[in-house]
Amino acid sequence: MSGRIPQHFIQDLIARIDLVEIVQARIALKRRGHNYLACCPFHQEKTPSFNVNQAKQFYYCFGCGAHGNVISFLMEYERHDFLDVVHDLAAQAGLSLPEGVDRQENNTAELYPCLETATQYYEQNLRQADEAINYLKKRGLTGQTAKRFRLGYVADRWDGLTQHTQHDANLQRHLATNGLLITKENHHYYDRFRARIMFPIRDLRGRIIAFGGRTLINDPAKYLNSPETPIFHKSNELYGLYEARQAHAHLTQVLIVEGYMDVVSLAQHGVNYAVATLGTATSAKHIQKLLRYTDQLVFCFDGDRAGRQAAWRALTVALPLMNDGVQARFMFLPENEDPDSLIQKIGKAAFEKLMQNATPLSDFFFNELKEQIPLLSLDSKASFSKEAHRYLDTIPKGLFQQLMLDKLSELVGIKTTEVLTETPTTLTHSKPTKTTKLPAALKLCLALLLEKPSLAELVQDLSYWDYLALPAQKLFLELVAQCKQKPHLTVGELLLETNDPIKSRFIAELSAWSHQVKTEELETAFKDALGRLEELSREQRIKELITKSKSSPLSDAEKENLRLWLSTKSST
Ligand code: GTP
Ligand code: MN
Repeated sequence: MSGRIPQHFIQDLIARIDLVEIVQARIALKRRGHNYLACCPFHQEKTPSFNVNQAKQFYYCFGCGAHGNVISFLMEYERHDFLDVVHDLAAQAGLSLPEGVDRQENNTAELYPCLETATQYYEQNLRQADEAINYLKKRGLTGQTAKRFRLGYVADRWDGLTQHTQHDANLQRHLATNGLLITKENHHYYDRFRARIMFPIRDLRGRIIAFGGRTLINDPAKYLNSPETPIFHKSNELYGLYEARQAHAHLTQVLIVEGYMDVVSLAQHGVNYAVATLGTATSAKHIQKLLRYTDQLVFCFDGDRAGRQAAWRALTVALPLMNDGVQARFMFLPENEDPDSLIQKIGKAAFEKLMQNATPLSDFFFNELKEQIPLLSLDSKASFSKEAHRYLDTIPKGLFQQLMLDKLSELVGIKTTEVLTETPTTLTHSKPTKTTKLPAALKLCLALLLEKPSLAELVQDLSYWDYLALPAQKLFLELVAQCKQKPHLTVGELLLETNDPIKSRFIAELSAWSHQVKTEELETAFKDALGRLEELSREQRIKELITKSKSSPLSDAEKENLRLWLSTKSST
């Protein structure tokens, strides 16, 4: 996130600012033990699950998974750019920005106006191009809708925008950074977008940050997006969110669809609260973003097999974010329809009726799982329950999770408590959030490492590490590698580097856990815990070999290993 400002400057800055003070000036924090607690500013909730950790200077919301350090907090809360925030904080901390940063800052700031220039050019082109106007008319769009979404057009030539901006070298340079112009040899440019209807993509502040373009000449790439740029990251953005927020002071619900045209056409028919991902699958980031403005999500998918698979993927991404009060439903479209074609046929009222009747997340979940594992025998009930737990355990603790677990017990005919004790005592694949079920030594190692990343240096011999085969162990190794590389890493930075919501939740839980080890004993305690883990892993290996030896003879190498491990064991 900080390609241009030196990392040490950022670290210095963070060290001089107290996150608690910054947050407290904006939302009411309550002290609870070593942490501070509030209702999350990034999603709607009634009971507080937003934690601010003063010692480690990070925040984490156990409801929506929002997390980070003081810089990301201000970026999200104030909706400021990285550089704006760094500027403000540096001023507060009495630090002056490193040489050269100001100039670069202007560069980023200048990326926005040139996109506005491009948008106006495309808009003007649309007004003058009969073929484009006719195309949009044929697709049922009115001039008013085109205006609201600032749709545009660019003709079928290599140099439309290039010619238009010929007089201004700076402007062209910025347009090239934004990917709208592409560099040829000797500082000449040509257009990225040709013969396309242009859909400007706006950020939450309404600034245009990129474009999607639909071909009018049957180019094999039906849609083309701007490339990744300093101000546009495709997988973070949702087309139509700005427009939906403009239309509704409060968004009761948001409909998530696939296409640009779907969003625009739905809006024209009065369903003006739809958003689309930009050709990517729905990510946790997308859902987190939406949950800041609404607590009801309706995911819209094709009714076919691929659509159901995509829906299942969205469901697994949504589960860790299903805080109490959040509702998600899945709407499956009739064959050969997309939201655009459907609403043109049946209109707003009937479409919203379908939305209302969309399958609740819980029904979709259990129905899909029943397809995967039919509930026929006792055996299948056991695997059903086990598989269901893999997912249900990722839901934040609360009423919704309990309801899902109750439903599971009802289905498999076992009481909840029995279902619960049936889960293995170690972490299985998809639930690294259950810190309580970790071997104590592993949990301690992780927590101590988060407290003092330089401890990573003490982890030398990794040869025995895979033997517990726990996801938490894999995480430990990843952390060790990260910390070795950057020994000054803070938990806040670590969280920002982590894209996986389950992993970040896990890190937050461990960082908040009070391990009771005194500062001066951190190193000894860490070494001890590592030793215990090694012992555990060795026992596990021995057990495996002995089991194996009962069914098939061991190889010479295995026998040798066994002898070796058994002797190390007795000597420790
Ligand atoms: P129309 O055919 O204009 O109705 O578009 P649509 O919105 O119905 O699009 P479609 O269902 O074909 O695709 C849905 C979304 O996937 C689009 O809005 C794009 O974001 C993306 N997409 C489709 N085709 C392409 C492509 O060729 N390249 C890229 N990068 N994205 C595409
Ligand atoms: Mn379509």
